[in-house]
Amino acid sequence: MSILVTGGTGYIGSHTCVELLNAGYEIIVFDNFINSKPEAIQRTKQITNKDFKFYKADLLDRSAMEQIFTKNQIDAVIHFAGLKAVGESVEIPLRYYHNNVGGTLILCETMAKYNVKRMVFSSSAAVYGNPATVPIREDFPLSTTNPYGSTKLMIENILRDLYISDPEWSIALLRYFNPIGAHKSGLIGEDPNGIPNNLMPYIARVAARKLEVLSIFGNDYPTKDGTGVRDYIHVVDLSLGHIKALEKIMQTSGVEAYNLGTGIGYSVLEVISAFEAASGQKVNYKIAPRRAGDIPECYADSVKSKKELDWVASRDLKEMCEDSWGYINKLASFKKAGRPL
Ligand code: WQD
Repeated sequence: MSILVTGGTGYIGSHTCVELLNAGYEIIVFDNFINSKPEAIQRTKQITNKDFKFYKADLLDRSAMEQIFTKNQIDAVIHFAGLKAVGESVEIPLRYYHNNVGGTLILCETMAKYNVKRMVFSSSAAVYGNPATVPIREDFPLSTTNPYGSTKLMIENILRDLYISDPEWSIALLRYFNPIGAHKSGLIGEDPNGIPNNLMPYIARVAARKLEVLSIFGNDYPTKDGTGVRDYIHVVDLSLGHIKALEKIMQTSGVEAYNLGTGIGYSVLEVISAFEAASGQKVNYKIAPRRAGDIPECYADSVKSKKELDWVASRDLKEMCEDSWGYINKLASFKKAGRPL
């Protein structure tokens, strides 16, 4: 079974490639390195002791996409490739719609042309907007508060319409909550280019003294301690959810959405405490104004994923923090040894 992984050198893509190879799948990976590094390819091969084909290509390059489909036997696609920074999407929305939505249209047209009609799509809890209640189920109302989330919802709707036009399609829409952590080896993890937008990579850099202080965006929310509450999920648990979704779409047809979350909400202050305990490092922070577009509380009801995918997240916050810290330390050792990061 051969799987095309778009965006396969990114944070979640590379971890999923590791689990695909461990599960015995052949994979073909493409990425344009806009938010990842070529070293992820070698490290994925090192972790699994497996080889695979890689193409440096862009989602918007139709001819490059055609080449990949004509040169390879592809049974299904796991589609990660896309821009994903919420704040940036507000500043440059056209680039997000062009890249994420336009690129997915080219991918789907090429898939249909070569009769590849099975896809696992990397969606997001951002499609729920600001939920009226928590935990969130897949049948909750869908709305978005930023262009990034809107691209994810638009693509979900495009994929539903595609299935209605051709019932041979089999598609899983995976709605991620907040992925954090890293592979136990420390060889792959979350190392965004530039200043991190997300909480965990920022905390890790403050603990590693690469950044001075964490700004907590608001402590006056109607939550357990006033800071934002989110459903943090270990990236390896998330990756294993893709393997389960792939097994499901190989047996069925249709379009189904699945929450990939732990069902537990942790506040920013709780994450800081957990990271300090895991790393033995102090995380300096200050209270700052709320961030535009943030919601008070968001965590998953993942009963449907357990029932239909036979998937449950098993790694706790302590392990997520330990593995994040392990990756940062590995990066530091590579830097010290003058090895590529
Ligand atoms: C988490 C909490 C912040 C940074 C977004 C996207 C989602 C997905 C994950 C792509 C919030 C607080 C954060 C900081 C802080 N993206 N925070 N200081 O916003 O829940 O989700 O990223 O797939 O689709 O919406 O994640 O990590 O940015 O924020 O206080 O420097 O940490 O206010 O409460 P978010 P996050």
